[in-house]
Amino acid sequence: MSTSEIYSPGLEGVIAGETDISTVTGGLRYRGYPVTELAAKSTFDEVAYLLLHGELPTRAQLGAFNKRLAAAQSLPSLISDVLKKVPDGAVPMDVVRTAVSMLAHFDPEIGDESHDANLRKSECLLAQIPLIIGEYHRARKGLPAVSSRPELGFAANQLYLLTGKPPSEFDARAFDVSLILYAEHEFNASTFTARVVTSTASDLHSAIVAAIGALKGKLHGGANEKVMDMLQAAGGPDQAEAWIRGALARKEKVMGFGHRVYKHGDVRAGILKEYARQAAERTGNTKWEQTAAIIERVLTEEKNLFPNLDWPAGRLFHALGLEVPLYTPFFVASRVTGWCAHVIEQADHNRLIRPRARYTGPDERHVKPIEQRG
Ligand SMILES: CC(C)(COP(=O)(O)OP(=O)(O)OC[C@H]1O[C@@H](n2cnc3c(N)ncnc32)[C@H](O)[C@@H]1OP(=O)(O)O)[C@@H](O)C(=O)NCCC(=O)NCCS
Repeated sequence: MSTSEIYSPGLEGVIAGETDISTVTGGLRYRGYPVTELAAKSTFDEVAYLLLHGELPTRAQLGAFNKRLAAAQSLPSLISDVLKKVPDGAVPMDVVRTAVSMLAHFDPEIGDESHDANLRKSECLLAQIPLIIGEYHRARKGLPAVSSRPELGFAANQLYLLTGKPPSEFDARAFDVSLILYAEHEFNASTFTARVVTSTASDLHSAIVAAIGALKGKLHGGANEKVMDMLQAAGGPDQAEAWIRGALARKEKVMGFGHRVYKHGDVRAGILKEYARQAAERTGNTKWEQTAAIIERVLTEEKNLFPNLDWPAGRLFHALGLEVPLYTPFFVASRVTGWCAHVIEQADHNRLIRPRARYTGPDERHVKPIEQRG
């Protein structure tokens, strides 16, 4: 078959590799477990273990895993200093990317790309990213960093690292479910980026830094930050219908809707919607939930477009009192588990990823010396 015959813009529908980690075929499953069941019956800590180690943990395995994460929960002082000194107005996703890149310099196993070393590096990153987010957030507010409280569980600890207060049980569980749903998603753009970097025999930190860069874009993870901007632009339930119809007439992309793979709805969005609704009710302000319901109805009726996970996630994080520029960094804190699992899998069965392009440039022509080019 010639290259042109198998060309698919955006690699849509192309099987670009094999994976044991998750599938979207027949409903999203992580290592065989439906995400609906994981969201109902497990915690993010268990899911992180599942993705990295292949099986759901026993109590003893989870205890040992949590101990290893707790032991890794501190940042080199140089990184803490940088987090305090980045210029005002820096984008938190960029700061997370820089800090993860710096962590490579402190990795005691740099240069060792073995399976076991990569697993240890993955656990360290999982432990340290919440600290980066927490320390940077508090530094921007002129607040001192707080020490990690790993006994709270991953999700509650991330919230604690921001506020210095343990969250309510509801807030912790709602955030925990969002992390479960964000953890892994087959060959999405950032995971594929991580696999491409790994396929060149580069290192795990380089792959994760590249993946963070890919996730930042608003067509991917960056969409969860745009959701609140959009709801605010819509104004409220009274103006929402006119606003969304106007946006459609202007052919604007509505953030939090549509998906490359899910053309009939994203099961994750349905799960998190319930938490977003309850979280808003608990604040006593359901304005954005009502606004969202109107936008959702119009987009489904008019364009057959359904919400993706970022749609309820943006609203949930807002109702939990979290600041918008942290939303995509939270996605990083979770998705690093999926990325690392893919890096390890790619490294274990590596073949350089190097596709071909369909050439659309000029036909062959010949070089005139510069004096003859006019
Ligand atoms: C995710 C996304 C990039 C997938 O894009 P894709 O698979 O390339 O889908 P297409 O761009 O081919 O979309 C098909 C049609 O739906 C429209 N569409 C898709 N998503 C849309 C959206 N969010 N708002 C408005 N229209 C949208 C496209 O404009 C296109 O319409 P057309 O056929 O009239 O040109 C796209 O849906 C999008 O930009 N969504 C908003 C960003 C977002 O929420 N990202 C998070 C993804 S998890």
